[in-house]
Amino acid sequence: MEIKFTKKRPKAEVLVRFVKEHEKGIKGRTMKVPVRSGVPHGIALRWAAADAYRNIKAIGIRSVYIKKPPHMEPFKWYLQMYEGFKLASYSYDTFKGKKDDYQLEVYWQGEYNDLVRKADILVEATNFTRDLVNTPANVATPEYLKNVAENLAKENGYEIRVFGRPELEKMGMNAFLAVASGSEKEPYLVHLIYRPEGKKARKRIVLVGKALTFDSGGLSLKTAQGMMTMKIDKAGASAVLGVFHALKRLGIDYEVHGIFAATENMPDANAIHPGDVVRSYSGKTIEILNTDAEGRLTLADALAYAVEQEPDHLIDLATLTGSAVVALGEFTAALFTTDNRLGHAIMKAGNIAGERFWHMPLEDPFIREKMKSLIADVKNVSGDRWGGAIFAAQFLREFLPEKVSWAHLDIAGPVFNVKDWAYNPAGATGFGTRTLLHFLLRTRRKD
Ligand code: BES
Ligand code: ZN
Ligand code: ZN
Repeated sequence: MEIKFTKKRPKAEVLVRFVKEHEKGIKGRTMKVPVRSGVPHGIALRWAAADAYRNIKAIGIRSVYIKKPPHMEPFKWYLQMYEGFKLASYSYDTFKGKKDDYQLEVYWQGEYNDLVRKADILVEATNFTRDLVNTPANVATPEYLKNVAENLAKENGYEIRVFGRPELEKMGMNAFLAVASGSEKEPYLVHLIYRPEGKKARKRIVLVGKALTFDSGGLSLKTAQGMMTMKIDKAGASAVLGVFHALKRLGIDYEVHGIFAATENMPDANAIHPGDVVRSYSGKTIEILNTDAEGRLTLADALAYAVEQEPDHLIDLATLTGSAVVALGEFTAALFTTDNRLGHAIMKAGNIAGERFWHMPLEDPFIREKMKSLIADVKNVSGDRWGGAIFAAQFLREFLPEKVSWAHLDIAGPVFNVKDWAYNPAGATGFGTRTLLHFLLRTRRKD
């Protein structure tokens, strides 16, 4: 898809107009695309744009003119409509013999300005994340994720620290290493740092992403069905890398750290057994009763390392539990926080980005009680199915100091979809990237 900016009506095959729901239809050379009512704007407008793109493609039209409704303010027009078109036209065809050769010329009413530039950066970051999540586990290994981070560091002048197995052993990252022990591939802890140029950073934000390049469950093996999509278990780290793709270009004025502990969860000969006990980086011991609850083990160490950076705000993203998907469905992420103002800011950024979050309880003393282990400080599963996403969030809390402004985003549901959904083509959605970027941009515009 090629977008050209124009002030006058060009000789395009079809004119696209956005209308109220009851006015839809095609009349002559005008395609009227409805904007759903009763849906938040951030979602409805992008969704309508994506509908337009899919209709145009299905009919086989080669050129269109997109006209701005007179009442729509430019911020919405570019950020949402333009983004919707671009996000919907994404496809992952790296391994396809026959690529999709559909070419659409889009004439866009208006000019290339700062708002479009920003929308382009946000879309490219989202697609960067989507590509990473879509990349299969035989290609996207822990080393591959480390290389992606190193390339971003080189291209943008970010600082980077990488810790391999010998260093991790010396540091005592035993919860992370326990997960890595069942895989032949080298694990890496990666730490990227962005500092704003020429100005003092307003705050320090530390982002942590779950980075399981594949989750077989380990000895607590998943079912065949259950592991079909488990290449997506690196979606948290992929969102963090997507953010780093855009930080420099957006000129964000926060200091931003990106941290992930990359490994696979496999059942090889050295794999941990259910019942093993390890001493985590924080000093707390963990009884690992289920090796499929591995994300919380890698995050326990990554988060304990992250707090050493003294963040003003600490945010982690993880495809942590199936339970979060059962609770909220596949389109909404679960948000847990120790700081309601931070939670609010993330929700607001999500609304602007067109990504949905819902607030879940963190301090549930009854569920917390179930974390007690007979032989260690804590155990990694409760032993029953109830409140699994809350249990996991509280488990992470165990590795953080009492006073910390922290948000945990369980993104297991919305990072991947089997069918096209709104502005997300089937496959990885890149969820989290745009919300984090809007959070860092502190967009104050009313949406
Ligand atoms: N990576 C999975 C969670 C997941 C499930 C992500 C479905 C995306 C879709 C995680 O490591 C896991 O296996 N969690 C278990 C925890 C259980 C053993 C306590 C789960 O949710 O079933
Ligand atoms: Zn698992
Ligand atoms: Zn997992």
